[in-house]
Amino acid sequence: MTNLKRVATIGDLARLARRRMPRFAFDYLEGGAGDDKGVIRNRQQLDRILLRPTLGCGVTPEISVSLFGQNYSMPFGIAPTGPNNLLWPGADAMLALVARTNNIPVVLSTMATTAVERFAEIAGISPWFQLYPLRSDKVADDLLARVWGAGVRVLVVTIDVTTNAIRNRDVRGGFNEPGFLRSRRFLMDAARRPIWLLGQLKQGKPRLPNLTPYIGASSLNWETARSAGDLLRHDVRWEHLKFLRERWKGSLIIKGILDPDDAVRAIELGADGVWVSNHGGRQFESAPASIDALPLIKARIGNRAKLFMDGGIRSGEDIVKAGACGADMAFSGRSLLYGIGAADAVGAQHGLKILRDGTFAALAQLGCAAYHLLDSKWIWRTDEPALSARAPD
Ligand code: FNR
Repeated sequence: MTNLKRVATIGDLARLARRRMPRFAFDYLEGGAGDDKGVIRNRQQLDRILLRPTLGCGVTPEISVSLFGQNYSMPFGIAPTGPNNLLWPGADAMLALVARTNNIPVVLSTMATTAVERFAEIAGISPWFQLYPLRSDKVADDLLARVWGAGVRVLVVTIDVTTNAIRNRDVRGGFNEPGFLRSRRFLMDAARRPIWLLGQLKQGKPRLPNLTPYIGASSLNWETARSAGDLLRHDVRWEHLKFLRERWKGSLIIKGILDPDDAVRAIELGADGVWVSNHGGRQFESAPASIDALPLIKARIGNRAKLFMDGGIRSGEDIVKAGACGADMAFSGRSLLYGIGAADAVGAQHGLKILRDGTFAALAQLGCAAYHLLDSKWIWRTDEPALSARAPD
Protein backbone atom coordinates (compact mmCIF):
# COMPACT_ATOMS: atom_id res chain seq x y z
CA MET A 1 0.00 0.00 0.00
CA THR A 2 1.26 3.46 -0.88
CA ASN A 3 2.74 5.36 2.07
CA LEU A 4 0.95 8.70 2.27
CA LYS A 5 2.95 10.20 5.14
CA ARG A 6 4.82 12.56 2.83
CA VAL A 7 1.90 13.31 0.53
CA ALA A 8 1.18 16.98 1.21
CA THR A 9 -1.19 18.13 -1.55
CA ILE A 10 -3.89 17.00 -3.96
CA GLY A 11 -1.26 17.54 -6.67
CA ASP A 12 0.94 14.92 -4.96
CA LEU A 13 -2.00 12.49 -5.00
CA ALA A 14 -2.53 13.21 -8.72
CA ARG A 15 1.12 12.38 -9.46
CA LEU A 16 0.77 9.06 -7.62
CA ALA A 17 -2.54 8.35 -9.38
CA ARG A 18 -0.92 8.88 -12.77
CA ARG A 19 1.52 6.06 -12.00
CA ARG A 20 -1.20 3.66 -10.82
CA MET A 21 -4.07 4.31 -13.25
CA PRO A 22 -4.20 3.25 -16.90
CA ARG A 23 -3.39 6.11 -19.20
CA PHE A 24 -6.87 6.28 -20.74
CA ALA A 25 -8.48 6.53 -17.28
CA PHE A 26 -6.09 9.18 -15.97
CA ASP A 27 -6.44 11.23 -19.14
CA TYR A 28 -10.22 11.01 -18.98
CA LEU A 29 -10.13 12.13 -15.34
CA GLU A 30 -7.64 14.94 -15.71
CA GLY A 31 -8.39 16.24 -19.18
CA GLY A 32 -10.77 18.95 -20.30
CA ALA A 33 -12.33 20.36 -23.42
CA GLY A 34 -9.92 21.06 -26.26
CA ASP A 35 -6.35 21.15 -25.00
CA ASP A 36 -7.28 21.75 -21.33
CA LYS A 37 -6.99 25.56 -21.31
CA GLY A 38 -10.24 25.80 -19.30
CA VAL A 39 -8.90 23.34 -16.72
CA ILE A 40 -5.71 25.37 -16.41
CA ARG A 41 -7.64 28.66 -16.23
CA ASN A 42 -9.69 27.42 -13.23
CA ARG A 43 -6.42 26.91 -11.34
CA GLN A 44 -4.72 30.11 -12.52
CA GLN A 45 -7.61 32.32 -11.47
CA LEU A 46 -7.86 30.71 -8.04
CA ASP A 47 -4.12 31.27 -7.57
CA ARG A 48 -4.45 34.96 -8.47
CA ILE A 49 -6.74 35.65 -5.51
CA LEU A 50 -5.07 36.82 -2.31
CA LEU A 51 -6.78 36.95 1.07
CA ARG A 52 -6.55 39.56 3.83
CA PRO A 53 -5.21 38.18 7.12
CA THR A 54 -6.33 40.06 10.26
CA LEU A 55 -4.51 39.45 13.52
CA GLY A 56 -5.22 39.54 17.22
CA CYS A 57 -8.72 38.04 16.86
CA GLY A 58 -8.06 34.88 18.90
CA VAL A 59 -10.46 32.72 16.87
CA THR A 60 -10.86 28.95 16.72
CA PRO A 61 -12.62 28.76 13.37
CA GLU A 62 -15.88 26.93 12.86
CA ILE A 63 -15.79 25.06 9.56
CA SER A 64 -19.08 23.17 9.78
CA VAL A 65 -21.94 24.52 7.68
CA SER A 66 -25.68 24.09 7.61
CA LEU A 67 -27.48 23.48 4.33
CA PHE A 68 -31.07 22.53 3.53
CA GLY A 69 -31.69 21.63 7.18
CA GLN A 70 -28.61 19.40 7.40
CA ASN A 71 -25.39 20.07 9.27
CA TYR A 72 -22.19 19.16 7.39
CA SER A 73 -18.75 18.95 9.03
CA MET A 74 -16.99 21.13 6.50
CA PRO A 75 -17.81 23.43 3.56
CA PHE A 76 -16.75 20.89 0.96
CA GLY A 77 -18.61 18.25 -1.02
CA ILE A 78 -17.82 15.61 -3.64
CA ALA A 79 -19.05 16.70 -7.08
CA PRO A 80 -20.71 14.20 -9.44
CA THR A 81 -18.35 12.40 -11.81
CA GLY A 82 -19.77 9.81 -14.20
CA PRO A 83 -18.23 6.36 -14.64
CA ASN A 84 -16.09 6.24 -11.48
CA ASN A 85 -15.83 2.45 -11.26
CA LEU A 86 -14.36 2.35 -14.75
CA LEU A 87 -11.70 4.87 -13.72
CA TRP A 88 -10.91 2.88 -10.58
CA PRO A 89 -12.66 -0.35 -9.45
CA GLY A 90 -14.96 0.28 -6.50
CA ALA A 91 -14.45 4.07 -6.61
CA ASP A 92 -18.15 4.92 -6.04
CA ALA A 93 -18.27 2.92 -2.82
CA MET A 94 -15.04 4.54 -1.63
CA LEU A 95 -16.42 8.04 -2.21
CA ALA A 96 -19.68 7.13 -0.45
CA LEU A 97 -17.71 5.81 2.51
CA VAL A 98 -15.53 8.90 2.76
CA ALA A 99 -18.66 11.08 2.68
CA ARG A 100 -20.24 9.00 5.43
CA THR A 101 -17.14 8.97 7.66
CA ASN A 102 -16.60 12.71 7.31
CA ASN A 103 -20.23 13.88 7.15
CA ILE A 104 -19.94 15.77 3.87
CA PRO A 105 -22.26 15.79 0.83
CA VAL A 106 -21.56 13.43 -2.04
CA VAL A 107 -23.37 13.70 -5.38
CA LEU A 108 -24.09 10.63 -7.51
CA SER A 109 -24.20 11.23 -11.27
CA THR A 110 -26.96 10.06 -13.62
CA MET A 111 -24.09 8.36 -15.49
CA ALA A 112 -22.75 6.64 -12.35
CA THR A 113 -21.63 3.03 -12.30
CA THR A 114 -23.49 2.33 -9.03
CA ALA A 115 -27.26 2.26 -8.51
CA VAL A 116 -28.63 5.12 -6.43
CA GLU A 117 -30.23 2.66 -3.97
CA ARG A 118 -26.92 0.89 -3.31
CA PHE A 119 -24.98 4.15 -3.15
CA ALA A 120 -27.40 5.60 -0.58
CA GLU A 121 -26.98 2.49 1.57
CA ILE A 122 -23.19 2.88 1.66
CA ALA A 123 -23.25 6.65 2.06
CA GLY A 124 -25.49 6.33 5.13
CA ILE A 125 -26.06 10.06 5.22
CA SER A 126 -28.48 11.04 2.49
CA PRO A 127 -26.52 11.49 -0.75
CA TRP A 128 -27.42 14.07 -3.38
CA PHE A 129 -28.32 13.00 -6.93
CA GLN A 130 -27.27 14.73 -10.14
CA LEU A 131 -29.72 14.54 -13.01
CA TYR A 132 -29.09 15.36 -16.64
CA PRO A 133 -32.39 16.56 -18.16
CA LEU A 134 -33.94 13.62 -19.99
CA ARG A 135 -35.82 13.54 -23.28
CA SER A 136 -38.64 11.42 -21.94
CA ASP A 137 -40.82 12.77 -19.11
CA LYS A 138 -41.85 9.18 -18.35
CA VAL A 139 -38.22 8.10 -17.83
CA ALA A 140 -37.57 11.24 -15.73
CA ASP A 141 -40.60 10.50 -13.54
CA ASP A 142 -39.52 6.90 -13.06
CA LEU A 143 -35.90 7.77 -12.24
CA LEU A 144 -36.90 10.57 -9.86
CA ALA A 145 -39.25 8.21 -8.02
CA ARG A 146 -36.33 5.78 -7.55
CA VAL A 147 -34.04 8.58 -6.39
CA TRP A 148 -36.62 9.82 -3.86
CA GLY A 149 -37.29 6.24 -2.74
CA ALA A 150 -33.56 5.82 -2.07
CA GLY A 151 -33.80 8.66 0.47
CA VAL A 152 -32.25 11.42 -1.65
CA ARG A 153 -33.64 14.88 -0.86
CA VAL A 154 -31.30 17.14 -2.85
CA LEU A 155 -31.43 17.05 -6.65
CA VAL A 156 -28.70 18.70 -8.74
CA VAL A 157 -29.72 19.30 -12.36
CA THR A 158 -26.75 19.81 -14.67
CA ILE A 159 -27.58 21.93 -17.70
CA ASP A 160 -24.19 22.73 -19.25
CA VAL A 161 -23.89 19.61 -21.43
CA THR A 162 -25.46 21.03 -24.57
CA THR A 163 -23.44 18.74 -26.83
CA ASN A 164 -20.79 16.05 -26.57
CA ALA A 165 -17.58 17.71 -25.45
CA ILE A 166 -14.57 17.74 -27.75
CA ARG A 167 -11.65 16.58 -25.60
CA ASN A 168 -8.41 16.30 -27.50
CA ARG A 169 -6.79 13.87 -25.04
CA ASP A 170 -9.64 11.41 -25.55
CA VAL A 171 -9.41 11.83 -29.33
CA ARG A 172 -5.64 11.20 -29.32
CA GLY A 173 -5.98 8.26 -26.89
CA GLY A 174 -8.87 6.71 -28.85
CA PHE A 175 -11.11 6.67 -25.75
CA ASN A 176 -14.06 8.07 -27.70
CA GLU A 177 -13.87 5.47 -30.49
CA PRO A 178 -16.31 2.55 -30.83
CA GLY A 179 -14.72 -0.67 -29.59
CA PHE A 180 -12.03 1.13 -27.55
CA LEU A 181 -12.61 -1.12 -24.51
CA ARG A 182 -11.89 -4.13 -26.75
CA SER A 183 -8.95 -2.58 -28.58
CA ARG A 184 -5.31 -3.74 -28.42
CA ARG A 185 -4.34 -0.27 -27.27
CA PHE A 186 -6.69 -0.52 -24.27
CA LEU A 187 -5.51 -4.05 -23.41
CA MET A 188 -1.84 -2.97 -23.46
CA ASP A 189 -2.68 0.05 -21.34
CA ALA A 190 -4.60 -2.10 -18.81
CA ALA A 191 -1.89 -4.78 -18.72
CA ARG A 192 0.62 -2.20 -17.50
CA ARG A 193 -1.59 -1.49 -14.48
CA PRO A 194 -2.12 -4.92 -12.83
CA ILE A 195 -3.74 -3.62 -9.60
CA TRP A 196 -6.35 -1.76 -11.67
CA LEU A 197 -6.84 -4.76 -13.95
CA LEU A 198 -7.25 -7.28 -11.12
CA GLY A 199 -9.72 -4.93 -9.45
CA GLN A 200 -11.73 -4.67 -12.66
CA LEU A 201 -11.82 -8.46 -13.08
CA LYS A 202 -12.99 -8.85 -9.48
CA GLN A 203 -15.60 -6.12 -9.76
CA GLY A 204 -17.02 -7.25 -13.10
CA LYS A 205 -17.71 -4.96 -16.02
CA PRO A 206 -19.03 -1.53 -14.94
CA ARG A 207 -22.65 -0.74 -15.88
CA LEU A 208 -24.81 2.35 -15.76
CA PRO A 209 -27.44 0.95 -13.37
CA ASN A 210 -29.41 4.17 -12.96
CA LEU A 211 -30.17 4.10 -16.67
CA THR A 212 -30.10 0.33 -17.23
CA PRO A 213 -33.91 -0.12 -17.11
CA TYR A 214 -34.20 2.29 -20.04
CA ILE A 215 -31.25 1.14 -22.18
CA GLY A 216 -31.00 -2.59 -21.45
CA ALA A 217 -28.74 -4.40 -18.99
CA SER A 218 -25.49 -4.60 -20.94
CA SER A 219 -22.15 -3.48 -19.52
CA LEU A 220 -20.58 -0.11 -20.16
CA ASN A 221 -19.08 0.26 -23.62
CA TRP A 222 -19.24 2.74 -26.45
CA GLU A 223 -22.66 1.49 -27.60
CA THR A 224 -24.30 1.61 -24.15
CA ALA A 225 -22.70 5.00 -23.50
CA ARG A 226 -24.29 6.19 -26.74
CA SER A 227 -27.70 4.72 -25.80
CA ALA A 228 -27.41 6.44 -22.43
CA GLY A 229 -26.42 9.65 -24.20
CA ASP A 230 -29.53 9.34 -26.39
CA LEU A 231 -31.71 9.47 -23.26
CA LEU A 232 -30.32 12.89 -22.38
CA ARG A 233 -31.78 16.15 -23.53
CA HIS A 234 -29.09 18.36 -25.03
CA ASP A 235 -31.58 21.04 -26.15
CA VAL A 236 -32.50 22.03 -22.60
CA ARG A 237 -34.87 24.97 -22.22
CA TRP A 238 -35.95 26.69 -19.04
CA GLU A 239 -39.42 25.12 -19.33
CA HIS A 240 -37.83 21.67 -18.85
CA LEU A 241 -36.52 22.88 -15.51
CA LYS A 242 -40.00 24.10 -14.65
CA PHE A 243 -41.19 20.54 -15.25
CA LEU A 244 -38.54 19.17 -12.89
CA ARG A 245 -39.34 21.80 -10.26
CA GLU A 246 -42.98 20.74 -10.32
CA ARG A 247 -42.05 17.06 -9.97
CA TRP A 248 -39.30 17.26 -7.29
CA LYS A 249 -40.45 17.86 -3.72
CA GLY A 250 -36.94 18.19 -2.25
CA SER A 251 -34.27 20.85 -2.66
CA LEU A 252 -33.32 21.65 -6.25
CA ILE A 253 -29.96 23.00 -7.44
CA ILE A 254 -29.11 24.02 -11.00
CA LYS A 255 -25.48 23.20 -11.90
CA GLY A 256 -23.36 24.64 -14.68
CA ILE A 257 -24.29 28.32 -14.34
CA LEU A 258 -21.76 31.03 -15.23
CA ASP A 259 -23.98 33.93 -16.28
CA PRO A 260 -25.68 36.10 -13.61
CA ASP A 261 -28.87 36.37 -15.75
CA ASP A 262 -29.06 32.56 -15.86
CA ALA A 263 -28.67 32.43 -12.08
CA VAL A 264 -31.62 34.81 -11.68
CA ARG A 265 -33.71 32.77 -14.12
CA ALA A 266 -32.99 29.55 -12.24
CA ILE A 267 -34.10 31.16 -8.97
CA GLU A 268 -37.24 32.55 -10.59
CA LEU A 269 -38.10 29.00 -11.66
CA GLY A 270 -37.86 27.89 -8.04
CA ALA A 271 -34.30 26.62 -7.68
CA ASP A 272 -33.11 26.52 -4.07
CA GLY A 273 -29.48 26.63 -5.10
CA VAL A 274 -27.24 27.79 -7.95
CA TRP A 275 -24.06 25.79 -8.66
CA VAL A 276 -21.47 27.91 -10.45
CA SER A 277 -19.43 25.55 -12.61
CA ASN A 278 -17.76 25.17 -15.97
CA HIS A 279 -17.89 21.39 -15.54
CA GLY A 280 -14.25 21.36 -14.46
CA GLY A 281 -13.24 22.86 -17.83
CA ARG A 282 -14.53 19.73 -19.55
CA GLN A 283 -17.21 21.15 -21.85
CA PHE A 284 -16.03 24.45 -23.32
CA GLU A 285 -12.42 25.53 -23.43
CA SER A 286 -13.27 29.23 -23.66
CA ALA A 287 -15.60 29.30 -20.67
CA PRO A 288 -14.54 31.65 -17.87
CA ALA A 289 -13.04 30.25 -14.71
CA SER A 290 -15.81 29.41 -12.23
CA ILE A 291 -14.11 31.49 -9.51
CA ASP A 292 -14.36 34.57 -11.77
CA ALA A 293 -18.07 34.04 -12.42
CA LEU A 294 -18.85 33.41 -8.75
CA PRO A 295 -18.62 36.98 -7.32
CA LEU A 296 -20.65 38.38 -10.24
CA ILE A 297 -23.39 35.88 -9.51
CA LYS A 298 -23.24 36.50 -5.77
CA ALA A 299 -23.55 40.25 -6.37
CA ARG A 300 -26.64 39.60 -8.48
CA ILE A 301 -28.51 37.04 -6.39
CA GLY A 302 -27.44 37.97 -2.84
CA ASN A 303 -29.05 35.56 -0.38
CA ARG A 304 -31.97 34.56 -2.60
CA ALA A 305 -30.58 31.04 -3.03
CA LYS A 306 -27.71 28.90 -1.78
CA LEU A 307 -24.59 29.26 -3.87
CA PHE A 308 -22.18 26.46 -4.75
CA MET A 309 -19.00 26.46 -6.77
CA ASP A 310 -16.56 23.99 -8.31
CA GLY A 311 -13.69 24.04 -10.80
CA GLY A 312 -10.05 23.71 -9.73
CA ILE A 313 -10.60 23.45 -5.95
CA ARG A 314 -7.47 21.65 -4.70
CA SER A 315 -6.79 23.03 -1.20
CA GLY A 316 -8.35 24.44 1.93
CA GLU A 317 -7.24 27.90 0.85
CA ASP A 318 -9.16 27.40 -2.41
CA ILE A 319 -12.27 26.43 -0.40
CA VAL A 320 -11.90 29.60 1.67
CA LYS A 321 -11.41 31.70 -1.49
CA ALA A 322 -14.67 30.25 -2.84
CA GLY A 323 -16.36 31.26 0.44
CA ALA A 324 -14.97 34.80 0.20
CA CYS A 325 -16.32 35.01 -3.37
CA GLY A 326 -19.80 34.01 -2.20
CA ALA A 327 -20.03 30.20 -2.10
CA ASP A 328 -21.91 28.49 0.73
CA MET A 329 -19.97 25.34 -0.12
CA ALA A 330 -17.21 24.37 -2.56
CA PHE A 331 -17.04 21.09 -4.46
CA SER A 332 -14.46 19.13 -6.43
CA GLY A 333 -14.79 16.18 -8.76
CA ARG A 334 -11.18 15.29 -9.45
CA SER A 335 -9.54 15.87 -6.04
CA LEU A 336 -10.71 12.74 -4.21
CA LEU A 337 -10.61 10.62 -7.38
CA TYR A 338 -6.89 11.44 -7.53
CA GLY A 339 -6.74 10.15 -3.94
CA ILE A 340 -8.46 6.92 -4.97
CA GLY A 341 -6.16 6.52 -7.98
CA ALA A 342 -3.19 6.98 -5.63
CA ALA A 343 -4.26 4.71 -2.78
CA ASP A 344 -7.92 3.58 -2.88
CA ALA A 345 -10.23 4.75 -0.06
CA VAL A 346 -7.25 5.61 2.15
CA GLY A 347 -6.06 8.00 -0.54
CA ALA A 348 -9.49 9.67 -0.77
CA GLN A 349 -9.56 10.04 3.01
CA HIS A 350 -6.06 11.53 2.90
CA GLY A 351 -7.18 14.00 0.23
CA LEU A 352 -10.13 15.03 2.35
CA LYS A 353 -7.90 15.53 5.40
CA ILE A 354 -5.64 17.81 3.33
CA LEU A 355 -8.71 19.87 2.36
CA ARG A 356 -10.17 19.94 5.87
CA ASP A 357 -6.94 20.86 7.69
CA GLY A 358 -6.23 23.47 5.04
CA THR A 359 -9.67 25.06 5.43
CA PHE A 360 -9.26 25.32 9.18
CA ALA A 361 -5.73 26.72 8.86
CA ALA A 362 -6.76 29.29 6.25
CA LEU A 363 -9.63 30.63 8.39
CA ALA A 364 -7.32 30.76 11.43
CA GLN A 365 -4.72 32.73 9.45
CA LEU A 366 -7.41 35.12 8.28
CA GLY A 367 -8.74 35.60 11.79
CA CYS A 368 -12.20 34.66 10.55
CA ALA A 369 -14.34 32.90 13.17
CA ALA A 370 -16.51 30.83 10.81
CA TYR A 371 -16.75 29.83 7.16
CA HIS A 372 -20.24 31.27 6.86
CA LEU A 373 -18.88 34.71 7.88
CA LEU A 374 -16.66 34.91 4.80
CA ASP A 375 -17.45 37.55 2.22
CA SER A 376 -15.65 39.81 -0.24
CA LYS A 377 -14.14 41.87 2.60
CA TRP A 378 -11.66 39.03 3.11
CA ILE A 379 -10.26 39.38 -0.39
CA TRP A 380 -7.10 41.43 -0.75
CA ARG A 381 -7.94 44.11 -3.29
CA THR A 382 -4.91 44.88 -5.42
CA ASP A 383 -6.53 48.14 -6.60
CA GLU A 384 -6.62 49.52 -3.03
CA PRO A 385 -3.83 51.79 -1.82
CA ALA A 386 -1.37 49.64 0.13
CA LEU A 387 -2.18 49.59 3.85
CA SER A 388 1.33 50.81 4.64
CA ALA A 389 0.77 53.89 2.48
CA ARG A 390 -2.15 55.13 4.63
CA ALA A 391 -1.55 58.36 6.50
CA PRO A 392 -1.12 57.84 10.27
CA ASP A 393 -4.18 58.81 12.36
C1 FNR B 1 -17.29 15.37 -14.23
N1 FNR B 1 -18.31 16.29 -14.02
C2 FNR B 1 -19.63 15.89 -14.10
N2 FNR B 1 -20.63 16.74 -13.78
C3 FNR B 1 -21.92 16.34 -13.77
O1 FNR B 1 -22.80 17.14 -13.44
N3 FNR B 1 -22.23 15.06 -14.14
C4 FNR B 1 -21.29 14.15 -14.51
O2 FNR B 1 -21.61 13.00 -14.81
C5 FNR B 1 -19.94 14.58 -14.51
N4 FNR B 1 -18.95 13.73 -14.91
C6 FNR B 1 -17.63 14.06 -14.69
C7 FNR B 1 -16.62 13.12 -14.91
C8 FNR B 1 -15.30 13.44 -14.59
C9 FNR B 1 -14.24 12.41 -14.79
C10 FNR B 1 -14.98 14.73 -14.10
C11 FNR B 1 -13.55 15.10 -13.72
C12 FNR B 1 -15.96 15.68 -13.93
C13 FNR B 1 -18.00 17.66 -13.55
C14 FNR B 1 -17.89 17.70 -12.02
O3 FNR B 1 -19.13 17.53 -11.41
C15 FNR B 1 -17.30 19.04 -11.52
O4 FNR B 1 -18.04 20.09 -12.08
C16 FNR B 1 -15.83 19.20 -11.85
O5 FNR B 1 -15.15 17.98 -11.64
C17 FNR B 1 -15.21 20.28 -10.96
O6 FNR B 1 -13.88 20.54 -11.30
P1 FNR B 1 -12.62 19.84 -10.57
O7 FNR B 1 -12.79 19.94 -9.10
O8 FNR B 1 -12.60 18.44 -11.03
O9 FNR B 1 -11.49 20.64 -11.10
